Amino acid sequence: MALLIRNGRIITATDDYVADIWCEDQVITRIGRNLDSPAGATVIDAAGKYVFPGFVDPHVHIYLPFMGTYAKDTYETASKAALVGGTTTLIEMICPSRQEEPLAAFELWKGKADGKSACDFTFHMGVTRYDSAAESQLKEIVRAGLSSFKVFLAYKGAFGVDDTELYHTLKLAKSLGVIVTAHCENAELVAELQKQLLADGKTGPEYHEPSRPEAVEAEGVHHLMTFAQMHDAHCYIVHTSCEPAVRAALAAKQRGVKVWIETLIQYLLLDKTYAERPDFEGSKFVMSPPLRDKRNQRFLWDNLASGAISTVATDHAPFDFKGQKEMGRGDFTKIPNGIPSLEDRINMLYTHGVNTGRLDLNRLVRAGSTAAAKIFGLFPRKGTIAVGSDADLVVYDPAYRGTVSVRTQTMAVDYNPFEGMTIEGRPSVVTVRGQVAVKDGRFVGDPKRGQYLKREPNHF
Ligand code: URP
Ligand code: ZN
Ligand code: ZN
Repeated sequence: MALLIRNGRIITATDDYVADIWCEDQVITRIGRNLDSPAGATVIDAAGKYVFPGFVDPHVHIYLPFMGTYAKDTYETASKAALVGGTTTLIEMICPSRQEEPLAAFELWKGKADGKSACDFTFHMGVTRYDSAAESQLKEIVRAGLSSFKVFLAYKGAFGVDDTELYHTLKLAKSLGVIVTAHCENAELVAELQKQLLADGKTGPEYHEPSRPEAVEAEGVHHLMTFAQMHDAHCYIVHTSCEPAVRAALAAKQRGVKVWIETLIQYLLLDKTYAERPDFEGSKFVMSPPLRDKRNQRFLWDNLASGAISTVATDHAPFDFKGQKEMGRGDFTKIPNGIPSLEDRINMLYTHGVNTGRLDLNRLVRAGSTAAAKIFGLFPRKGTIAVGSDADLVVYDPAYRGTVSVRTQTMAVDYNPFEGMTIEGRPSVVTVRGQVAVKDGRFVGDPKRGQYLKREPNHF
């Protein structure tokens, strides 16, 4: 199966030029001007369009047992939604309970994806308990092709680890050449603030943010950085939402801690007033760390443009309003945490980043694809357009105009947090290893094409 994409403006994290791309046997085999198109090849005219490398979302939840329920998407729905939005590689969090064995969890999560994903995928291995049994299983999981762990400093009693466990996880990660991704919030502070707010009769979704204020997140980041420094471990802070948290990470980086920073499309565009919407609508905007005061957004955009923040992810965690978010009526601590955004990340980043002048095209690619591929050991197979790279390509139409709506989305959840917002551009064609998966906003590909991506440790 051969594919020729003609006359597109090719954008990578570093380059910007017009050329044709020839793909065979799932990879890019030639890039040049006026390439011949032999009979039988699929030919796509990309004149007037950009050609981006497939985007990589380094933080998604698909199978997620959490807060007494399960996230709504499956690989069948989530992988198609990702592709429609231009994301061709997913990195999902494996989030076992403390009682589950890590190896069994790895097999369970992988089993949910194998043969059911339309796009390629890999995982961060959640370390939610640390003892000698967990340690030997984590080593086996790394041998099976995972090279990143995930720890939660929040959610004590569910996924959260204590400080002894954190210490040993970072030590093991360093010895194995694995990077540790971390959710940073001080769990004890959250628990006390939640108790106080509920005792004061403050039960609505608008109190979620005050129960986990910016200082609580910044403390979590500082805490992780102190522990990471002890072992010279490589860390990646997921979903930083605010200036104090980013500053805590940057201060650690200044003193030599090996840290990378992620933010989310939600924090760049939405703010805490969304969680204050009446009639419990605010629950749709409850996630952790919470949506913040709008003043943080300028700081996040500026640090994204400078590269101080490496990646924009989604932390896609879809819970229906009906029956799921509603579990928290009368008690905001019971609202399942999470905001879906897998499908919309790149169109939103393009519309509000590139089209407003906050990000140039190279930085869009870096933040949405290349940086994650490099940090997590997928580069140059993923994250760029080069001979030998997988032919995951996004032909992007900057002339498209549309409106985001739950009525037209592919994600299997009953609302869209960006409902009614306009997009100025969208993928017109998306390919997965050389095969067309999306045409003009519709999935048209092979629903089982996705492959598990093995990653090597020590890739930094
Ligand atoms: O609110 C969130 N972020 N839900 C998903 C789980 C997590 O913390 O990443
Ligand atoms: Zn988290
Ligand atoms: Zn998450």
